[in-house]
This record gives sequence, structure tokens and C-alpha cells, in this order.
Amino acid sequence: MTNQLILGDNLTLMREMASESIDLIYLDPPFFSNRHYETLWGDDGEIRSFEDRWAGGIEHYIAWLKERVFEMHRLLKPTGSIFLHCDWHADAYIRVYILDKIFGESNFINQVVWHYNTGGKGKSSFLRKHDIIFWYSKTRQQYIFNRDLVAIPRTVGTAHLRNGIDENGREYYEDYSPRKSGKQYRWYVDEGLTPMDVWTDIQALNPAAKERIGYPTQKPEALLERIILAASNQGDLVLDPFVGGGTTIVVADKLERRWIGIDQSVAAIKVSEMRLELSPRLFSLPFSVKLHKYDYDTLRYKDAFAFETWIIEQFGGLPNTKQRNDFGLDGKMRDGTPIQVKRSDNVGRIVVDNFLAACQRNDKKLLEQQREAGQTVGFIIAFSFAKGAISEVARLKNEDNLKIELIRVDSIIQIAKKPSLKVTMQADSTDAKGLREMTFTATAESEAKIEFFAWDWHYDAATKTFKPEVLLDKEGQQQQKFAPGKHTVGVKVVDSDGLETIETLQFELHTD
Ligand SMILES: C[S@@+](CC[C@H](N)C(=O)[O-])C[C@H]1O[C@@H](n2cnc3c(N)ncnc32)[C@H](O)[C@@H]1O
Repeated sequence: MTNQLILGDNLTLMREMASESIDLIYLDPPFFSNRHYETLWGDDGEIRSFEDRWAGGIEHYIAWLKERVFEMHRLLKPTGSIFLHCDWHADAYIRVYILDKIFGESNFINQVVWHYNTGGKGKSSFLRKHDIIFWYSKTRQQYIFNRDLVAIPRTVGTAHLRNGIDENGREYYEDYSPRKSGKQYRWYVDEGLTPMDVWTDIQALNPAAKERIGYPTQKPEALLERIILAASNQGDLVLDPFVGGGTTIVVADKLERRWIGIDQSVAAIKVSEMRLELSPRLFSLPFSVKLHKYDYDTLRYKDAFAFETWIIEQFGGLPNTKQRNDFGLDGKMRDGTPIQVKRSDNVGRIVVDNFLAACQRNDKKLLEQQREAGQTVGFIIAFSFAKGAISEVARLKNEDNLKIELIRVDSIIQIAKKPSLKVTMQADSTDAKGLREMTFTATAESEAKIEFFAWDWHYDAATKTFKPEVLLDKEGQQQQKFAPGKHTVGVKVVDSDGLETIETLQFELHTD
């Protein structure tokens, strides 16, 4: 399975996932708070979900979250853990009415207090400066805790401790006060200290932080690093069903875990996608982004093998893992019925005939069984089919009782048009350092709504890699300073189907 970013309501999506398939779940659901606070992204998906959980008071919120946590419990392996991030608005309700009920009190591991110091006045109460992260295991006896990976340096007061070096050269401290039991406690410096359940060493993101994307509930990577390191192993599968701007999966990817991120907001999914592309590791596995709609160009001109694999999965089949198969078949259904994919339009009769021959060579017995039972003997998937193919399929059915199904790509997934994008620029004044200020204006049109623009001031035209420095520009207006010389700026627009278009601007600035 590849890593996945999936657009949609996590309840529906989790219900389709296999039981006991996930090692670690981290969730940071929208808090139960007042109406004005909400909507990070402001797109339809998020607003829908917002109204969904706000129809009533806290009871409604708890019911909304509970049915989701119920699915999460089902998805976790017996060795798995859940970390639920919340705050004073609902933490007590969540613990008692959701986690204790679904996971059981005995599977409670920790209540982590994440304390941050983000300033404020506190005129009428003590400042509220912590979140709660509940950790429950699916099975108390089997959960993972990589204590050594999250240990922090121990600072020592030496009052009762004697310092020494053992026969292996390891530095230790030992309690030298005489003890009745006779056994002295010795701890090694290189073992560090197990972090306590109050975390004060992880700062909330300040507005100028480098990892900051520009939406209010973004969590620091260091927080996720501690959780993922502590409660999962390399290669494990991590799920964040409220992925937001992708912090969890970016960190999971860095730490060589596999991952699935879900969000109902297109903006969240697209921001997460760009964030993953900003920090590719050498050994990062490929990932797929599942939206509701796809655009023709991207699919049609995608790498052929990647497209075949992907569309067969969307169709519910099993793709061939090998690039080449003896009979030129690309995959099969779970019952063995062959599938062939043609990444082209107007597929003709010859493809049907060759496919039938391949099916016969592949598994003649199966084909004959299916023919006798009047079942489909094979599927051909393509963007469109020519008349020749359609009549050949009809002929085979009528004359030979061989049923081949022609499946159009747009009957498996929804295809839509990409947004159009125009960018203009204007050079303004030059500052004292000789930098020229430029104003850029992007205008876009789409059958759907325009969500946001992203800007890359140093677009790499050779490799066509888009590494945006501005990720969430709602207006399409930017100002930026440039030194004399040649420049390429990349602009991306994303619409509410998640479809995107990139434009580039090349220009050269001269010294005045
Ligand atoms: C608090 S944010 C998560 C922030 C994230 N931890 C980060 O660091 O970026 C909550 C997210 O849940 C998403 N969401 C809300 N209801 C959802 C639902 N029913 N299914 C999937 N995602 C949902 C929202 O769109 C929002 O992006």
C-alpha cells in the first residue's frame, strides 16, 4: 500500500478501511468552541463538517467525535495506540464519555499536558496555556513505547549521587546513601531521562516560525516527533484522520513510517501535499492524493505504469506489481478476472482482440467457466472507445457468449477541467540595496470555486519542481523583492475540487 492523502469525511472513509491495519493514530479534531473561532480553511468541506458537529451543544459534539473514535479503535492493531489531542473545552467529556468507554479505562496510558507559553494578559482568570493529549493503547499488554528514542538529557544535582565510569567506559551516577535493601540504584548518563507527562520543552509555533504555513491550529513538528518516535516503529502505518496542514504525515514520512492523512477540506489536503513535496527525503515512498475529481491532462500524461496501477486500484482491482506481465495484462479483479488498461482515447477493435487472446493464454479454465456462467471474462479500461471496439465487444457477446466490458475512466472517477490562470507583474521602486520590488497579480477561473494561490519565487524550470514560499494566498496578490538578474517565478492556483494549474513567469532585472 502506498502512502495516501484522502479528501473526505473521515467517518465514511474509515468505515471502508480494514480492521486492525493501523499502528498509530494521532488526531487533533476541531475543538468544541464557539462558532467564530472555527473555519481554518473556510472551504465548503470544512464548513459542512463544522455544521455537522455544531447542530447541538457538547452532547452533539461528543456524539460526533465518538462514532469516529469507535472506527479508530477498530482500525488499530492490538499493538496500536491512539493519541487524542484536545483542550479544556471538552477534554473531560472526551476522556470519560469517549475514550474510557471505547478503549476502556484499563488501556489508559498517559494524559500528556502540553504547556506552551504564547503570551496574553489573563485579566479574569489564570492564563490557559496547555492542551491535553490522551494516550490509550488498544491492548495494555502489547503497546509500543520506545523509551530510549525519546529520552531527554538528564541534568543532575549531585547532592546524594556519586559519579563514576564503569568497566565499559559508561558514565553513571549512583545513590551512595546507605540502603537497607542493599541494592543501589545506578543510572547511566547515556540512558537519559524518560520525559515526564508535562511537556514544556516544545514551543507552540510562533508567527514567524519557519515551518509555519499560515493557519491557526498548525501543530509543531517536534510534538509529533515525540509521539511518533515513542509509540511506533519504522515501517509502521500512522493515521491522522484530521490531518489539517499535514504536520503528522510530514513527520511520519521523515521518520520512515508509512502514513494515511484524511481531511474534509480541499485546502488542507493540497497544503499537506505541497508540504510533503517541500521536504522530500531520499527514501520517501511515493504517495497518492485521492480527491473527488481529477483532470484529464494530469491523468492522460501521467507515467503509464503509475496510471495503470492507480486506476486499477480505483476500480477495485489488484494491479500487477511487475512492470511487465507475460500476457500484457495489467491487473485482475479479486476473483481473477483480467484487467487491461489503455491510457488513451478511441481504443479500437485490435485492442479487444489482443486482450481476448491474452485472457485465453492467461487462464483458459477461468475464461471457460465464466463464459458458461455468462459472466464477464475481462475488463478493458480506457479514456474512450472507438466504434470498432464497441461493436467487436457486442459481436463476441452475441456470437461466442464472451462478455468483455469496456470501462471508461470517467465512469470510475470524476473528471473535471483544471482552473485557468493568468499572472501579470509590474516592477515598482528599487530600494537602497538595489532590490527591485515587484507586484504580482494572479487571476483564475474555474468551474468550481478558486481556493488559494501559492507562490514559488525561485521556481526551478529545469526540474519543474514547485517549492512554494507562500502557501495560502487567498487573494492572488503578492509583492516581492528581487536582485538584478534572471528570475523564474512559479504560481499555482487550486480550486475547490483540488485541481490545480501552474504558470511560470520569467524576467530579467537590470541594475538601474
Ligand atoms: C485542528 S485541525 C488539524 C490541524 C493539524 N493537526 C495540523 O497540525 O495541521 C482539524 C482539521 O480537521 C478537519 N476536519 C474537520 N472535520 C472533519 C471530518 N469530518 N473529516 C475529515 N476532516 C475533518 C478540518 O478541515 C481541519 O483541517
